[in-house]
Amino acid sequence: LLGHVEPVDAHRVDEFDRFRFPVQYVNRPDREFRGYSGTVASGSVRVGDEVMVLPSRRRSRVRRIVTFDGQDGEEPRAAVRHQAVTLTLEDELDVTRGDLIALADDTPSVTDLVDAHVVWMSDEPLTVGKLYDVKVGTKTTQAVVRQVQHRLDVETLATEPSDRLELNEIGRCRLAFTTPVAVDPYKALPETGSFVLIDRISNATVAAGMVIRSAREPKGVRATNVVWHESKVTREVRAALKQQTPCVLWFTGLSGAGKSTIANALEQRLASLGHHTYLLDGDNVRHGLNKDLGFTDEDRVENIRRIGEVAKLFVDAGLIVITAFISPFRSDRQMARELFEAGQFIEVFVDTPLEVAERRDPKGLYAKARTGLIKNFTGIDSPYERPTGAEIVLDTVEEDVESAVRTVVGVLNQRGFLSIDDALDDPGGQ
Ligand code: ADX
Repeated sequence: LLGHVEPVDAHRVDEFDRFRFPVQYVNRPDREFRGYSGTVASGSVRVGDEVMVLPSRRRSRVRRIVTFDGQDGEEPRAAVRHQAVTLTLEDELDVTRGDLIALADDTPSVTDLVDAHVVWMSDEPLTVGKLYDVKVGTKTTQAVVRQVQHRLDVETLATEPSDRLELNEIGRCRLAFTTPVAVDPYKALPETGSFVLIDRISNATVAAGMVIRSAREPKGVRATNVVWHESKVTREVRAALKQQTPCVLWFTGLSGAGKSTIANALEQRLASLGHHTYLLDGDNVRHGLNKDLGFTDEDRVENIRRIGEVAKLFVDAGLIVITAFISPFRSDRQMARELFEAGQFIEVFVDTPLEVAERRDPKGLYAKARTGLIKNFTGIDSPYERPTGAEIVLDTVEEDVESAVRTVVGVLNQRGFLSIDDALDDPGGQ
């Protein structure tokens, strides 16, 4: 089935060189060392090669390669694709069934969030947010579909927005695993890039999936061999010098909801209270850092990923950061949230109904979107997923800008991000 969905790519042949060994079971072929048995999924390995065990990222070297028929003759010095072998390593590592062994300098991603093509095979439609069992190679864990990004029309091969998949439908989804899993893109390495979803009650296989990429990493080439360098001046020092507790106020809402207007007024208010701030605004950031990105689902995901990372750097620098992006997908806002410490990420939902935003249409974009001049416009032909757990919800129909700013300053004050003097200063504070 998988083979039919993805056309075979001639380049894949080279990719088979990459060593992947899913551990099927652990045993003890000699008294001293534990052995890890399984079938080489791709590539080859030699005695002495430096390997890495995933997800733990522990390194060791291959000590022996044991095969069933190797008893009489010489023990093999190498194992290749499709061969069933037992490996022993020079170090006693904690390796268990479901782990993956790869060459240390060419490892797959270890991730808890992937984008994947999913073929739905059950009468009961895919349910976003429901927990399924997932099998990736020899590993079993659980997964939740966070979002259906689009559905593929198998007749025309066109993609269309959809939030569900029914029997025999194929769609692109974002899945979150409950534990980190080592995966490759299916196109490069199908053996370690495919998975099945299993219903936890009926035990039936409900879907087959092909990993497109880990959603925790940027597209394109990944940097390897990069080591985090601890800086001498810590974030605590930077924050203390500014006499404030940094945080990020993450504004989300439709285009024309009022995010930028409120965010601007808020920044002015915080600056007048003596705080060091920085405002990251969608339209502005898309002129520079993100000018290579458009408005496809994929580009929006990358847009928000970069903003999350930049906001994190600025919070690290000791600033109160305000971001104003539509950020339409719940899973991306969650991903941004997870970059920060608990309490540091404050989601502000500017809850303006579509009719109101469209009536305001400050940039005339809704009118263009309605006539088809702009494609993938949020609220028209691209989805906006309302937040369910935002710390602050602003109603721009009932509240004016000044009152919205007071609400946010009030919450900041309550949560201890502003000093007591500010509280006295602020008529909306509590
Ligand atoms: S996001 O979806 O990736 O978060 P972002 O906030 O950066 O969007 O940019 C949204 C702004 O880009 C809108 O306020 C609007 O001015 C402009 N824009 C241009 N095309 C689109 C589109 N197709 N959908 C939404 N906004 C668009």
